[in-house]
Amino acid sequence: MAINIRCANTNDLLNIQHCNLQCLPENYQMKYYLYHALSWPQLSYVAEDEKGRIVGYVLAKMEEDCEDNPHGHITSLAVKRSHRRLGIAQKLMNQASRAMVECFDANYVSLHVRRSNRAALNLYTSSLGFEVSEVEPKYYADGEDAYAMKRDLSSFHIEKQDRIRDDTVKQIKDSAAKNSSATQQHTHTGRCCDHS
Ligand SMILES: CC(C)(COP(=O)(O)OP(=O)(O)OC[C@H]1O[C@@H](n2cnc3c(N)ncnc32)[C@H](O)[C@@H]1OP(=O)(O)O)[C@@H](O)C(=O)NCCC(=O)NCCS
Repeated sequence: MAINIRCANTNDLLNIQHCNLQCLPENYQMKYYLYHALSWPQLSYVAEDEKGRIVGYVLAKMEEDCEDNPHGHITSLAVKRSHRRLGIAQKLMNQASRAMVECFDANYVSLHVRRSNRAALNLYTSSLGFEVSEVEPKYYADGEDAYAMKRDLSSFHIEKQDRIRDDTVKQIKDSAAKNSSATQQHTHTGRCCDHS
C-alpha cells in the first residue's frame, strides 16, 4: 500500500475534518482547522493513499506566549481504521515534530490523551518517547481524565544541526569546485591576462 505523507494545506481541511469525525469524539469547527493551517502552515501533515484520498492526519500548532521555551502541541491525530498499524501515525507525528524544530526551534511537543486510549498511549510511549507530565482530571467533555504528555525534541535538534553542517560542507565544496573550474578556464583562455 503506497502511502504519501505531505504537508497539509487549506484544500485538505474538509477531508481532515471528515477523517476526524470518523475517528474521534473530539471534533472542531472548520475555523479551528483554518486557524491551524493559516497560523502554522508548516506543522500539520496528511497521509494520502495512491488515489490521493486522505487516510490520516496530524493537526499541530505552536504554543503561543512562551518564546523563552518554544514548544509545539498536537491538537489532533487520527488514522482511518482501514489503514491502521502501518506506521502512519508514527510517521505523521515525527514529521510534525521535525517541522516544529526546523521552523520554530521547539524544545518539546505536548499533547493530551484519554486515559482509556490504549492504542494512542502505546504509540506515544513505546514508539515516540512521550512521557506523562500530569493527569488532568475530567479534561474531556464526558468527564474522562487526560494524561498530559511531553516529548523532548533534542534528537530532531541534532538531526537539524547535522543537516546544516552537511549543507555547509556541500556549499563549500561546490564553491571550491566552481572556483577551481573558473581558474582552469582562465588559464586555458590565456589571452585575457595578456595586457601587453
Ligand atoms: C492511535 C492511532 C492514531 C494510531 O495510528 P496507527 O497509524 O495505527 O499507528 P502506527 O501504525 O503508527 O503504530 C505505531 C505503534 O503504536 C502502537 N499502537 C498503534 N495502534 C495500537 C493498538 N491498537 N494497540 C496497541 N498498540 C498500538 C504500537 O506500538 C505500534 O507499533 P507496532 O504496529 O509496530 O506494534 C489510531 O489508532 C487512531 O486513529 N485511533 C483513533 C483516534 C485516536 O485515538 N487518536 C489519538 C488521540 S490522542
